[in-house]
Amino acid sequence: MTEGLGQVLLVIILLGPGLFLWGVLVAARKPRDGGSKWIGGVMMFLSASFMGFLYWAYNLIFSSSYAKGRVLRLRGRARVARRALGEGWVDGVVPEVAGLTPWQRTVLGEAWRYSASLEHASVPAFAKLSLKLTALGAPSELIEACHLAALDEVRHARRCFALARAYAGLPWTAGAIPELGQQRPQPPSPEAGDDWARLVRGSLLDGCLGEGVASRVASEGASRASDPVVRETLSVIAEDEARHAELAWDVIAFALERGGGKAKQALRQSLEALEAQRTPALPRIPGVDEGFLARNGVLPQAELGQLMEECIQRTRTRAAALVGTSVRLAS
Ligand SMILES: [Fe+2]
Ligand SMILES: [Fe+2]
Repeated sequence: MTEGLGQVLLVIILLGPGLFLWGVLVAARKPRDGGSKWIGGVMMFLSASFMGFLYWAYNLIFSSSYAKGRVLRLRGRARVARRALGEGWVDGVVPEVAGLTPWQRTVLGEAWRYSASLEHASVPAFAKLSLKLTALGAPSELIEACHLAALDEVRHARRCFALARAYAGLPWTAGAIPELGQQRPQPPSPEAGDDWARLVRGSLLDGCLGEGVASRVASEGASRASDPVVRETLSVIAEDEARHAELAWDVIAFALERGGGKAKQALRQSLEALEAQRTPALPRIPGVDEGFLARNGVLPQAELGQLMEECIQRTRTRAAALVGTSVRLAS
């Protein structure tokens, strides 16, 4: 980051809290009159809105489509652990950081911290899948594969946190996921269907597609990454995520065999949901170009969209063959 850009960003970040404090002082000024109270209130409202916008923009940029694996869904919402500093989720690997500017290190640190949070959330996601499969009487091979996949995700999370820590210079680790402990048995909504339908839908979207995309994105990222540690990390993730995607296809095969017509019907309906899984176009991250990101294993937006599209079409074709439905490929 150039020094000028750093100063501009610092001013932008401090603008919200500064304006808010000013507003508080104006509203509390003595003698208190209606005018100063009103102006102070407007200043506080504007600064709170501005800070909210900054937070939204920050999340939009830094939660862009880096490799995703199996998503932890609780009551229909994707969840990850809270941000936390400390030990516990790290391995001993360190990438080369010499020559990177503070802003480049911040961007890469945030990208890897985001990936780490998703990898970490995949661990309980597989634990949940194992419980569900056991409840449905799945064979031992599927349960075993589920637990092995969870162990893969533990390794992915440790490595991604290690990279995030090295780039950011902060000891990032996984915090709590309080929502996991607040789960109450809830009657499923009629749209979600029965256990078989939910299993099929989740396996197709989060497993076959989500982990299939994660594998392709990691594989492409590995082919561009110049740092040997990043390259090795992404290669291992690519291989493991491809295996997890195959596990999801095995789960669907089990559901079709044991779940009967309802599972088949759910798979047909899930084909339509695949279309909604497009990668949104996101703003560019200021201060770093796409070439720099690619050399560090982060693919440009356009390529992410293209990979997603290819994976959607491939997943549709394979799923349609299982239910004997013909698919019209998007041009
Ligand atoms: Fe995975
Ligand atoms: Fe993973």
